[in-house]
Amino acid sequence: MEMQTEKKKVLLSIRDEKQYFPVKKTGFREEQKYVKANDGISLDIYEGETLGLVGESGCGKSTFGRTILQLYPQTDGEILYEKDGKMMNLKEQPAETMRGLRRELQLIFQDPYSSLNPRMTAGQIIGEGLTSHGLYKKGDPALREYVLEVMKKCGLDNYMFSRYPHQFSGGQRQRIGIARSLALKPRFVVCDEAVSALDVSIQSQILNLLLDLKEEAHLTYLFITHDLSVVKYISDRIGVMYLGNLVELAPTEGLFERTLHPYTKALLSAIPTTDVNAGKRDRILLEGDIPSPVSPPSGCKFHTRCYQCQEKCKKDVPMLEDKGNGHLVACHYPLES
Ligand SMILES: Nc1ncnc2c1ncn2[C@@H]1O[C@H](COP(=O)(O)OP(=O)(O)O)[C@@H](O)[C@H]1O
Ligand SMILES: [Mg+2]
Repeated sequence: MEMQTEKKKVLLSIRDEKQYFPVKKTGFREEQKYVKANDGISLDIYEGETLGLVGESGCGKSTFGRTILQLYPQTDGEILYEKDGKMMNLKEQPAETMRGLRRELQLIFQDPYSSLNPRMTAGQIIGEGLTSHGLYKKGDPALREYVLEVMKKCGLDNYMFSRYPHQFSGGQRQRIGIARSLALKPRFVVCDEAVSALDVSIQSQILNLLLDLKEEAHLTYLFITHDLSVVKYISDRIGVMYLGNLVELAPTEGLFERTLHPYTKALLSAIPTTDVNAGKRDRILLEGDIPSPVSPPSGCKFHTRCYQCQEKCKKDVPMLEDKGNGHLVACHYPLES
């Protein structure tokens, strides 16, 4: 049991992170425009937690996960990673240091099929990272033994070692993707829509596998999904994104019981439920399309779709503020405070 008084250790401290992608120019002399996929995100990720990240497609979730892992040259801000008691700024690390850190910082993809080499067997796929990071030599019998052990933990039988990706089901391929990442004994794993492509019954198997592996290896997850029921099930805390920004961040229960942001309220109202009281819950339908991240609205970016927008919202950018109990919101007129 974790002591109530125990202070949570920050594993990653993200400060004003920005990730802009240049838009291809269509004409001569046209000014360079950017997709502001992440536009100033700040948050801490605690060691051992599962932080869920939700928001509609295109709001910048995947970009955020990948930028933390330094898979893009970072546009601005800092990603500080705790290592041996010190916070290291990832973008300033030399390539050599970063190569070593990549083992600790892993990504589990959305679509395992496209990310698994069709010409390699499951055993080779899972073993590849282990040899490239110099943890084992190719052909070492201990490598085979270790890969089989990891496969077993991930629910893959011995005989599957020599099979190719196309011989597996979607759920099994996702297990291979998980085994490949977790074989490296990472500290931090970004799970990007890791169960979204799977049938509901398989989804819960894979979610439970991820939770078991996390407990066993003391992992920290950033769990990205557009599916709120998945994120509710798996997360300790949830961050809600809209158009490149974090609009609300709270412990899972707090987010559902005391929703503060009008956008979060609308998202939550759309979850299908078997609750008998469901009929009493009003569904909030957001009007209009998501604005372009190239030229987002002024002030609060959500103001063009907000059902309680006021003048101030059109002009002033709301800051993410702590409203107590670790519940943060970026809204001039939060719902219940
Ligand atoms: N590599 C890229 N190059 C250019 N634009 C990108 C790239 N990756 C994402 N984007 C754009 O950034 C925005 C956020 O995308 P993404 O992070 O994939 O959102 P999400 O994962 O929430 O669906 C989208 O407008 C998307 O088109
Ligand atoms: Mg995505």
